[in-house]
Amino acid sequence: MALNTKLLAAVCEAHGASGYEKEICDLILADLKGYYDDYQIDTLGNLIVHKKGDGPKIMLAGHMDQIGFMVTYIEDEGFIRFSNIGGFDPFMLVSRRVRFANGTEGVIRAERVEGFPSGFNSSKLYIDIGAPCKKCVEKAVKIGDIAVYSAPCHIDENKVMTPALDDRVGCFIMMEALKQIKNPKFDCYFVFTTQEEVGLRGAKTAVHSIDPDYGLAFDVTGAYDTPKSLKGNMRMGGGACIKIKDSSVLCHKQIIDWLTNIAESNGIKYQYEILEAGGTDTAAMQVHKDGVISGCISVSSRYIHSDAEMAALSDIEDCINLTVKALETGI
Ligand code: CO
Ligand code: ZN
Repeated sequence: MALNTKLLAAVCEAHGASGYEKEICDLILADLKGYYDDYQIDTLGNLIVHKKGDGPKIMLAGHMDQIGFMVTYIEDEGFIRFSNIGGFDPFMLVSRRVRFANGTEGVIRAERVEGFPSGFNSSKLYIDIGAPCKKCVEKAVKIGDIAVYSAPCHIDENKVMTPALDDRVGCFIMMEALKQIKNPKFDCYFVFTTQEEVGLRGAKTAVHSIDPDYGLAFDVTGAYDTPKSLKGNMRMGGGACIKIKDSSVLCHKQIIDWLTNIAESNGIKYQYEILEAGGTDTAAMQVHKDGVISGCISVSSRYIHSDAEMAALSDIEDCINLTVKALETGI
């Protein structure tokens, strides 16, 4: 089945930094209408979509939030200082265009720094929205407002390149899987989580309320296939990633074997994932109560947390197919 690239773009372009996921939540819920038995939005803003099935309880988790830049201080001359929501590399930010939720556009620039780049860090950065004074800025932007990267989602025949691929692509995979699945062998809870980028906070409360037997997260992972990147197994276009390890979790062997068998027996292209740095909602599910058997399906992506996160469309398709087959086959 051809990918719904229009939906993928809409999901990636919604404004939703950690703690402010309402816009993306509304979009997902509206799109899934008619495909679920019931849903709930909890205190932290997690969207919990229930698809009934005969079998053990599984929690699927993909995070709706994206990294952002929160206004901390506005200088008299109108320049905006900010704090990070989620992790980023200050070098990557210089000259990136950003957008606030009300549509105000600006650009991140750096002060002149002596000894650049050794004296360089994110405290040297500011957002310029082109307003000439503090009062003028305050008409559009207030302390605590959050900007995100402002760049359109680009999709061609091979790839998607966009901000917020992390982790809107995970949300998209779950949405498309939910629509395609027939007779799941699990009682399925599709959870579109909040605040992952600041410490897996949404997943922690959602797993408590669902209390699942199995946990399966969906997220991006690094592609180690660019010039002088770390040595590693994941390739853009190498198939759905079955996670073995990241810095937050060692996945349960039962999940790794299950997904491997499903991929093998259905001819779905896959690759194993060992991510050197970065965590996922998988970790929050795994340590719930007496422990939950947990794993993760990932999309191998280049330039994570930049405004040009890139992935292969074929990998996204492999992830959807793997998810549908896994839920329909059972464990
Ligand atoms: Co991230
Ligand atoms: Zn993520």
